Amino acid sequence: MSADQVIVEEAGFADLDAVMRVMIDSFDPAFGEAWTAPQCAGLLPLPGVWLVLARDGVGAPLGFALSRTVAGEAELLLLAVKKSAQRRGVGDRLMQRFIRDAGERGAERLHLEVRDGNQAIGLYRRHGFSEVGRRRNYYSGASGQRFDALTLARSTKA
Ligand SMILES: CC(C)(COP(=O)(O)OP(=O)(O)OC[C@H]1O[C@@H](n2cnc3c(N)ncnc32)[C@H](O)[C@@H]1OP(=O)(O)O)[C@@H](O)C(=O)NCCC(=O)NCCS
Repeated sequence: MSADQVIVEEAGFADLDAVMRVMIDSFDPAFGEAWTAPQCAGLLPLPGVWLVLARDGVGAPLGFALSRTVAGEAELLLLAVKKSAQRRGVGDRLMQRFIRDAGERGAERLHLEVRDGNQAIGLYRRHGFSEVGRRRNYYSGASGQRFDALTLARSTKA
């Protein structure tokens, strides 16, 4: 599978099972970053929230991005790609889509929170994000260990 065979589309409630399969496969429980199905289901109907799903050529889910806009700001809440599809540009496609959608939804500023040390920071930097803050002990891992979150931001225009 190459990134140009990947289909990236807006998704909804009916796709929550697919989202959870990617969530469980991709996030390491050691870090406490993943969301539960009820957390996702509770957020999706809220105003300004949107979900985008990446699928392969036969429709199997590869990754997703969950985001929301509030008052001219868009936040990337979650981004994940299943392990077997990582490092092939799927995350990159989802980021491009988040940035495009956010602009179309009227956001002028983009931000996200990410665990300090997460490899995703490389992807976010590639898309023009830089660090604007730190929340100490924001994530709580499976063994009770705490991890800082970094807040990264950029404007909608590159
Ligand atoms: C972060 C994540 C979504 C990236 O998805 P992906 O499809 O592998 O990303 P891409 O293939 O588009 O990678 C784009 C770039 O991001 C960086 N990157 C992504 N994963 C990386 C890794 N494991 N190590 C180092 N750099 C990485 C690299 O710069 C990469 O470019 P390259 O492959 O040309 O070096 C994926 O690793 C993931 O699901 N991780 C677990 C969930 C998570 O932590 N999400 C982020 C917090 S919400």
